[in-house]
Amino acid sequence: MTNLQESTTVKDRGNTTAEPSVRYLLRDGELVEYADARLHVLSTSLKYGVGVFEGFRAYWSEDDGQLYAFRVGDHMRRLVDSMRVVEIDGPRDIDVLSEQLLGLVRANNLRGNLHMRVQVFVDSSDGKPEDTGPVSVFMAAIPMGNYFGATGLHVQISSWARLSDRSMPPRVKSIANYQNGRLAVLEARRNGYDAALLLTEAGHVAEGAGYNVFMLRQGRLCTPPATDSILEGITRDSVIHLARTVLGIDVDIRPIDRTELYSADEVFVCGSAAEVNHVASVDRAPIGDGGAGEITRQLQYLYQQAVIGRAAQDQQWALPIYPTA
Ligand SMILES: Cc1ncc(COP(=O)(O)O)c(C=O)c1O
Repeated sequence: MTNLQESTTVKDRGNTTAEPSVRYLLRDGELVEYADARLHVLSTSLKYGVGVFEGFRAYWSEDDGQLYAFRVGDHMRRLVDSMRVVEIDGPRDIDVLSEQLLGLVRANNLRGNLHMRVQVFVDSSDGKPEDTGPVSVFMAAIPMGNYFGATGLHVQISSWARLSDRSMPPRVKSIANYQNGRLAVLEARRNGYDAALLLTEAGHVAEGAGYNVFMLRQGRLCTPPATDSILEGITRDSVIHLARTVLGIDVDIRPIDRTELYSADEVFVCGSAAEVNHVASVDRAPIGDGGAGEITRQLQYLYQQAVIGRAAQDQQWALPIYPTA
């Protein structure tokens, strides 16, 4: 186990997978050099896609000289829930998992906006799809900029249906689930769009490849329910809370039809990586004037304040990573 404290230059790599800009990753709680964080090619996780993960951000505040991790405990709780549902015998202690991740950031001495990942793989050698262990837990904290290249997304309603609780539960953040969103994004890009939204088999709006969706229609802010084939997004939850408690507007959590989006005044997507990003058009039908609407802008602002502990302070969502002076 290495325990060096070494300053690392933080480069904004955007959405790429370029050269490593951090020295250490974590494997089963131990620091390993970036290049040594490997799985065997016959690992069950690679053969059958057996693994769950979390992805979330930390934000650097120049004013505070502090790095804040956003809703770490809630992400670790969802990771543990995912492991329970798909029967992966990984670690269950949320506090230990959270502290390991924060320790990794400190060990790399990172001071800039980060994307953090926790991956739990079933790492049996040449195993079977139903293996529940042994597991390997990898953690990474890597500089990251904007998720989308653009603001104001042109979105296609995908011809692919969102997978469902009867097949591959979307509330589980399982590696294998991402093939579904991948197909939707590839189709959307082929057709000249930036992003995709998927419908449930019943035809309700579900979510995108890595983001939940909201619309403002007839003066009501609405988002699909947890039972309409979505990942129960932590950003979605944050947005609902900010809308209700700070803006004083209620949020209708109800099934949404595709054609409601066409006649919405505002549509936005949100996620830990995606943040809050407005939708300019759906299937080429313009939303408003194509710019971010008033409520979307207010929620974008509030979310950016919340991630550095300047809004929803009562929730203690933004966790300082370094000791406060
Ligand atoms: C399929 C899917 N939906 C929604 C989200 C948004 O979830 P969160 O806000 O917890 O990041 C994500 C992001 O991880 C996702 O992958």
